[in-house]
Amino acid sequence: MKEPNQKVREILFDLQGIDVSIYDEVFLNKSIETRMRETSCQTIDSYLNILRTDSTEFHRFEQSLQINFSTFFRNPLTFSVLEKIILPALDLKIRNKLKNEIRIWSAACAGGQEVYSLAMLINELNDRTEHSLKFRIFATDQSADQVQKASKGLYLSSTLGNLSLSRFNNWFTAEGDFCKVKPVLKSNIEFSVFDLLDSTRAVPPTCIFGDFDLVFLSNLLFYYKPELQHKMLEKAKNAVAKNGFLITGETEREILLKNNFREIYPQSGIFQSD
Ligand SMILES: C[S@@+](CC[C@H](N)C(=O)[O-])C[C@H]1O[C@@H](n2cnc3c(N)ncnc32)[C@H](O)[C@@H]1O
Repeated sequence: MKEPNQKVREILFDLQGIDVSIYDEVFLNKSIETRMRETSCQTIDSYLNILRTDSTEFHRFEQSLQINFSTFFRNPLTFSVLEKIILPALDLKIRNKLKNEIRIWSAACAGGQEVYSLAMLINELNDRTEHSLKFRIFATDQSADQVQKASKGLYLSSTLGNLSLSRFNNWFTAEGDFCKVKPVLKSNIEFSVFDLLDSTRAVPPTCIFGDFDLVFLSNLLFYYKPELQHKMLEKAKNAVAKNGFLITGETEREILLKNNFREIYPQSGIFQSD
């Protein structure tokens, strides 16, 4: 008898050409279990039957594999190290004319919370130092919907996570139940669609070349099988400038440690490679 997720794989591939073999087995099994619970299916066969015949459930299952959750200042320690140590050090390099501008790539930006958090930190640094740190952020995601959401910068006010009240007041305007990021936060960010598994391109076409001081690869590696995690990590590593940093989510730190990256501050999720 075939494994349940082997059958799901075949159904998705036969019906829509979707290849779920790229995902981590544990993640795939959890997604199947969740959908079985939601559809009140007691057995895998009854769920597979629904998957075959009900296009709405087919779409829901597909959506369940695309986890887009994000939040502002998601890992407070990471952002604190960026604010207190890394960004001031990069600022110093610019002042000493060792660099013209800071280049940043957020490689799975989802709804934009990560890049706007970073833009807040850089703008605040500029306000404190009365100096204008030149920077560009390239925000990409494989999902066109997420890229569109990110570029709008519109959020339900109830979903602001770790955002402080003073940052809310400085960087957002309220619009009913929603709030919108101020245009100044967007002015150095370019949004575009890019699949990290695209083997024909090393970096998104919008940024022309890599040489990034910071690359964010956060909260997506654990959905994928180890060989694809490795591929994404290699791509990110090659895009990081000399002495630059690779930044991941808390849950992915172990993956980087296993792949011989060095965490520069314990638990920070901020890495360098030798
Ligand atoms: C959970 S969100 C993480 C968002 C943000 N980086 C954070 O840490 O909050 C994962 C994002 O990874 C994106 N993603 C998944 N596979 C991808 C790929 N192969 N290339 C680019 N983005 C991908 C998804 O579309 C989703 O928006």
